[in-house]
Amino acid sequence: MQVKMAKSAGFCFGVQRAVDTVYEQVEKGVRPIYTYGPIIHNEVVVKDLEEKGVRVLNSREELEALTEGTVIIRSHGVGKEIYERIAQKGLHCVDATCPFVKKIHRTVEKESRAGKQIVIIGNDRHPEVEGIKGWCSTPAAVLESPEQARNFEPLEAVPLCIVSQTTFNYKKFQDLVEILDKKRYDRSVVNTICNATEERQTEARRIAGEVDAMIVIGGSHSSNTQKLFEICSKECKNTYFIQTVEDLDLGVLRSTGLIGITAGASTPKKIIEEVQTRCLN
Ligand code: F3S
Repeated sequence: MQVKMAKSAGFCFGVQRAVDTVYEQVEKGVRPIYTYGPIIHNEVVVKDLEEKGVRVLNSREELEALTEGTVIIRSHGVGKEIYERIAQKGLHCVDATCPFVKKIHRTVEKESRAGKQIVIIGNDRHPEVEGIKGWCSTPAAVLESPEQARNFEPLEAVPLCIVSQTTFNYKKFQDLVEILDKKRYDRSVVNTICNATEERQTEARRIAGEVDAMIVIGGSHSSNTQKLFEICSKECKNTYFIQTVEDLDLGVLRSTGLIGITAGASTPKKIIEEVQTRCLN
């Protein structure tokens, strides 16, 4: 069997960097270590870190209860106030915020200070958006649907600065900006969408169209992995969704020549490599 591995399979740059940061701290012997929220939505990784002594802070209250230790900020980032609380409490902070998210923080901080009203296109309940709001010096508006954009009433005579959650769909972002354009001419738009997700999907589609069988690796509840599976299934009827190497049915794959492999955004490299090795041996 021959294998075609997607380069963009698994963690994006920002998540890989955040996970590596936690392991680096563990290896340095830093204790106790906390992550502000799970470092990634992958139980295997979170459990492995837990066994190494890394605890997850699930709420602001849990942060308040700490008296010592290192708090690692995950790739989604947090608001300014969380950094201030960590410092006030005498805790050590290691910042693993994705640089692309950090850039949004700097933009909204600067523009809101300059007197602009910040509009974030994204999901108000998403931790990344929570964090972005926390860098605005005036209250930001969060819009997710065309209906919300239509109902939005900008402040009188205040210029707008529009940014986006990094994982927001580009087409939807454009639609919402178009609606806002009709309300306020004095506005700046900063496209802060990260193309990691789209690149992963485009590559998966291409590979699935070139192989005899396609394997998609990821958690059963991971929506981005399900999306990859859907995309690949359209291109290749022999597409298989597996969670780990244990689910791999080599009996089925043995008769196929070329196999493609991709993986969802929260699938660790180790699992991807195990599947690749099993296919090649
Ligand atoms: Fe990942 Fe950073 Fe983009 S966390 S999805 S590389 S914004």
